[in-house]
Amino acid sequence: MNKKIALIPGDGIGPDIVREGVRVLDAVAKKFGHSFTYETVLAGGAAIDKFGESDAVLLGAVGGPKWDNVPGTLRPEKALLGLRGGMKVYANLRPAVMFKQLSAACPLKDEIVGSGLDILIVRELTGGIYFGERGRNAENTEAWDTERYTKPEIERIVRLGFESAQKRQKRLCVVDKANILESSRLWREVAESVKADYPDVTLSYMYVDNAAMQLVRNPRQFDVIATSNMFGDILSDEASQITGSIGMLASASLGDGTGPGLYEPIHGSAPDIAGQDKANPLATILSCAMLLRFDFGMEKEAKAIEVAVEKVLDQGWRTGDIAGSDFDAVKAAGKLVGTAKMGDLVIAAI
Ligand code: IPM
Ligand code: MG
Repeated sequence: MNKKIALIPGDGIGPDIVREGVRVLDAVAKKFGHSFTYETVLAGGAAIDKFGESDAVLLGAVGGPKWDNVPGTLRPEKALLGLRGGMKVYANLRPAVMFKQLSAACPLKDEIVGSGLDILIVRELTGGIYFGERGRNAENTEAWDTERYTKPEIERIVRLGFESAQKRQKRLCVVDKANILESSRLWREVAESVKADYPDVTLSYMYVDNAAMQLVRNPRQFDVIATSNMFGDILSDEASQITGSIGMLASASLGDGTGPGLYEPIHGSAPDIAGQDKANPLATILSCAMLLRFDFGMEKEAKAIEVAVEKVLDQGWRTGDIAGSDFDAVKAAGKLVGTAKMGDLVIAAI
């Protein structure tokens, strides 16, 4: 048989003993007519020495139809969850901001959008149904995933929601399904128990189905939304679309501040346009601004990126996804650009 074996020698005597193991495996392969190939993976101190420790992490996207049918444990998304869980970045900040230059790409009527949209979704990122117990029965006729939250997990998100609201319009909406889910009822209890610490913030609650509707009916009622992992996943895609393009929205995933943050655009891997120089890099570029701001305290530098992006949009440059109903006009004006050119334009503006 041909088999592939990952080797993780690690530190200390690890490499010495693994080397002998490999020699024995090779001897067995020879004797019994097998072929083993090895891939060495760094872990432990060896990995720290080679790569050092990072102060922040910038991530693109994972997943695609090619891997849709691989077993759950192998799915690319699993790596992302492992990273989020492993880095303990429990709070995912997803600002859904409408760039005024992109109003043509916004699918909502002008009277709904008014002077613009600016919503911050604070999504719980390392708990709930994404990380809860899951499984199937022996007959493979039943499957389950579990939504489970502890008070401390909820409290740190709700508090971040309150603190974020204090810096904005002072309105926090906790989105849940408390008419059905026990875990949601705990979210409400926790929010009630800490709200006295934030007397300047108006707290409200909304069921997630209603919130999904209200986001398109009257999005300007929202300032900060704090919600669970899955509801935040769903609502942030919706919120991004009403702002014009999911290709514009950045995100920061933060922990308790003792380790690095994880920064990623909120969109997926868009395999249909991969490698064609079509993807909008602005969500990632704006994630870099969040990285500088939150992990390095570089406010001026972050602003420089954000101002540059605004400037490029002001000048009329568009990738396909943000040209919206102006697509033909943008194209005719020679302002339709690809991924690399968009990057060049932002750099030039900086
Ligand atoms: C997101 C994505 C991920 C998620 C997937 C790729 C696992 O949809 O970041 O919103 O569900 O969290
Ligand atoms: Mg998502």
